[in-house]
Amino acid sequence: MKISVIGTGYVGLVTGVCLSEVGHDVTCVDIDEKKVQNMRKGISPIFEPGLDELMTKNINEQRLSFTSDYQEAMVDKEIVFIAVGTPQSKDGSAELTYLKKACKSIAAHMTDDLIVITKSTVPVGTNEYVKELIDKNKTNSYKVSVVSNPEFLREGSAIHDTYHGDRIVIGSEEQEALDCVKEVYASFTVPILETDLRSAEMIKYASNAFLATKISFINELGNLCERLGANIENVAKGMGMDKRIGDKFLNAGVGYGGSCFPKDTNALVSIGNSVGYYMSIVDSVIETNEKQQRIIIDKIKEFYPDLSNKKVAVLGLAFKPNTDDMRDAPSIKVIRELVDNEAEVYAYDPIAKENAKIFLPGGTIYKDSIDETIEDKDFAIIMTDWQDIKEYPLDQLKNKLKNPTLFDGRNCFNLQKVEEIGLEYHSIGRPS
Ligand code: UGA
Repeated sequence: MKISVIGTGYVGLVTGVCLSEVGHDVTCVDIDEKKVQNMRKGISPIFEPGLDELMTKNINEQRLSFTSDYQEAMVDKEIVFIAVGTPQSKDGSAELTYLKKACKSIAAHMTDDLIVITKSTVPVGTNEYVKELIDKNKTNSYKVSVVSNPEFLREGSAIHDTYHGDRIVIGSEEQEALDCVKEVYASFTVPILETDLRSAEMIKYASNAFLATKISFINELGNLCERLGANIENVAKGMGMDKRIGDKFLNAGVGYGGSCFPKDTNALVSIGNSVGYYMSIVDSVIETNEKQQRIIIDKIKEFYPDLSNKKVAVLGLAFKPNTDDMRDAPSIKVIRELVDNEAEVYAYDPIAKENAKIFLPGGTIYKDSIDETIEDKDFAIIMTDWQDIKEYPLDQLKNKLKNPTLFDGRNCFNLQKVEEIGLEYHSIGRPS
């Protein structure tokens, strides 16, 4: 099938590449000409394991192309995916500027009846607006059908999630459009849920908010466990064995970050407010997460009330492993607080260093290895559970630090091992 994908962020690019890999003829459009030129050479603008290779393969086999020209992108296309960003605006709601621009460009350049599939996370009712906007702006008589097809992939495992996700959700009021989208995904071995337009839009927010709720819930319990001498890992294990609860997303830590959970939980509260309904649980989830992102600082201050001139090693900066994404990473708040308290911050991340420079305060000193970062520092903090950080030998860590103290925001190490090594160790929700 001939498909256009508008927007080459995480969702758009991965969708375009994965659809070309299963045999579709895909043109990805982005307004950023420099980005387009790089993508034509197989250089992905994001760090995602396996993506560059798959891009290059499909470009070479002529199923995948990139352009900044809408006219070129829309020629002969019957299906267009919208995958532009919907960032958070000041009042917490989703910002739809890019989506509106995409709709106007589609209207101006469509060359046939068109199925518009929205992958971007958008407030309930937006797909109806997409149809209205395209219909209002087009000067032709082609028919426009809209389908909501929210994305559930995770950064860092995006390709795997695309082909092996738990479900593909497609919502529309038009059965013919739904049948056509089913054909797009015919070679995926993923169950498809067909539903109405508004429910599909809601499923995305509901899923992200529910996962965020699991995380804030386990974090809150972890804080309680610390005060009662219980261990959150054992508690989560016991809870997770109940199939109704499930064992995923019950890892206590420094809170969730990234480009999705913070934005989507805020958007859901804002959607509720817009119709006069207060989403009290989701609001509490957000508040608990904001507190949790500071929890490491509170622990550190118990030991080092005066942080001025303390040399601090921060291991891991990205919001989670296997990505260079720094958006809403808990490390940002922690490092800001350390710098505000006049500590000297030495930071390490295997991939996110360049992006980190955009988000972290000036004065942060970046190092290229764990060894260099921890050498002679007063103490170390783990903010992201990258594999190389989890596998770093604890005896080496103990020997290199000036004061052998580790504040672990991701519960990377076994308590017994830490005790054997004789490291002063503070993690989340577990006995110290
Ligand atoms: C999330 C969802 O998992 C995807 O299904 C969804 O498609 C995506 O948002 C989106 O809306 O685009 P992602 O943000 O890539 O994916 O990352 P996750 O792996 O879900 O992790 C989010 C945050 O939660 C990270 O900061 C992670 O460290 C934290 N987390 C996760 C915990 O603190 N504890 C856990 O047990 C799990």
